[in-house]
Amino acid sequence: MDKLRILIPREQIAAKVAEIGARITADFLGESVVLIGVLKGATIFLADLARQIQLDATFDFIAVSSYGNSQQQSGEVKLVKDVDSSMEGRNVVLVEDILDTGVTLAYIRNLLQARQPRSMKIAALLDKVSRRTQPIQADYVGFQIPDEFVVGYGLDFAERYRNLPDICVLESYSDGA
Ligand code: IMP
Ligand code: MG
Repeated sequence: MDKLRILIPREQIAAKVAEIGARITADFLGESVVLIGVLKGATIFLADLARQIQLDATFDFIAVSSYGNSQQQSGEVKLVKDVDSSMEGRNVVLVEDILDTGVTLAYIRNLLQARQPRSMKIAALLDKVSRRTQPIQADYVGFQIPDEFVVGYGLDFAERYRNLPDICVLESYSDGA
C-alpha cells in the first residue's frame, strides 16, 4: 500500500481557488478570457477555478509529454495535443497544476506566445520554487510547496490518485499493483 499524508486539505484549496478566481475576474473586468488547461493534471483545478471567474470565458486544452519518468523532468517536451482555437488577440490564461522545473510551462508559453495573444497569464495551483531550472513564474500561484512529490486534486503518480480531494504527499509507494 502507498503511504499518503495530507499536505493541503480541500477547504484550503477551495478558499485559494476562490481567491485566484476573484483576482482573475478583477484583472480582466469587461474582457473575455480563454482558459487553457494543461492535460491531464490541470483539469480539476480548471473546473473549480472557472466557476470562480465571473467573466465571459471559454475553455481549451493542450497536452504535452515529457521524456523521462513521472518524477524526473528530462528537459525535452513534445506536443501531444494542440489547442483547438486561435490564440490571436485573446486573453490567454494558462492553467496548470504545478510549476516544477518550469520546462513544461516554458515550452507551452513560447508555443502560444508565437500566436500573438493579446495577453498571457499563468495560473499554477502549486509552485515548487526550489526546483526551477527555467526563468518562468506564475502570475497566480495557489501554494508554494517544498520539494516533495504530491498527488491528488488532479495530480497523479503513474496516472493514479488524480481523484483525491486533498493534495497529499506520496511518502512511500509499493511496486506491486
Ligand atoms: P515541470 O516541467 O518540471 O515544471 O513539470 C511540470 C509537470 O510535472 C507537471 O505538469 C506535473 O505533471 C509533473 N509534476 C511535477 N511535480 C509533480 C508532483 O509533485 N506530483 C505530480 N506531478 C508532478
Ligand atoms: Mg501536468
